[in-house]
Amino acid sequence: MNNPRRKLVVDDLRIGHWSRRSGSFALACDGLTFDVAENEFVAIVGPSGCGKTTFLTALAGLTPVESGRLELNGEQITGPAPDRSLVFQQASLFPWRTVVANIEFGLKAQRRLDAKGKARVAELVELVGLAGKEESYPRELSGGMSQRVNLARALATDPDLLLLDEPFSALDAQTRELMQEELTRVWQADGAGTGKTAVFVTHDVPEAVFLADRVIVFSRGPAHLVEVVEVDLPRPRGAGVKRSPRFQEISDHILSLVMSQNQPGRRTEDHDSNAALSR
Ligand SMILES: Nc1ncnc2c1ncn2[C@@H]1O[C@H](COP(=O)(O)OP(=O)(O)OP(=O)(O)O)[C@@H](O)[C@H]1O
Ligand SMILES: [Mg+2]
Repeated sequence: MNNPRRKLVVDDLRIGHWSRRSGSFALACDGLTFDVAENEFVAIVGPSGCGKTTFLTALAGLTPVESGRLELNGEQITGPAPDRSLVFQQASLFPWRTVVANIEFGLKAQRRLDAKGKARVAELVELVGLAGKEESYPRELSGGMSQRVNLARALATDPDLLLLDEPFSALDAQTRELMQEELTRVWQADGAGTGKTAVFVTHDVPEAVFLADRVIVFSRGPAHLVEVVEVDLPRPRGAGVKRSPRFQEISDHILSLVMSQNQPGRRTEDHDSNAALSR
């Protein structure tokens, strides 16, 4: 792949769901168009039910695409593959496995749990702050710790694309802030300083601004692109960045875009995605 801007290509993408009960088809995403660059962290925000999870599950290869392009490294996504890891809102850990065994799970399934794989797991345990909890079981962990295990498990297989669907929304406000900081730290530290390409869905605008290089705003459903907002805040970012005027300015702008989508009857027209993408 020559153009680093186009790690992920989303072009006039339509995704829908068939309802078996009514036998009808309903669009969840209608004409989404944007690109994601290699090592970029993008956040997606948009009204509830607009199609964010549907889009992520299509990226994971779990929901089929109706039409349009959804390409990773120049190839259309047609099904699940080990090069993508998905982290859900609720930590989905195996209750009968220890912390380490949960983190090792993907590597084991891929027959990659050799000395290198074990070393990688040990490194991740440290990185996500779970040292000392290696032999604990999920029932012995707090919500925040469980999500750390979930995150470490997703990173263990060294995925090409990390997909996160509101991973912190079940946590209390303080733990959530802490996890946001942890995630940027892990993301910045992992892979010799180059973060993985990540797509992070959230309802929380400040969370999106804090974490992302760009925030992609979806319209109300079926989702199309409202705007791609560049987050030109320097990295590495610490919690203090949230108090900066620029952070507030960007958050306010995104919030007003999302609010406009929540008003019934109003549908913001697509911005020129190329213009919106140019840095
Ligand atoms: N498996 C499914 N079968 C049928 N319809 C579905 C299915 N999953 C989602 N939908 C519908 O697709 C639309 C988009 O849902 P989706 O879960 O993608 O929204 P969302 O943006 O993630 O919402 P939220 O912010 O509340 O998580 C909704 O109208 C929803 O009812
Ligand atoms: Mg969702």
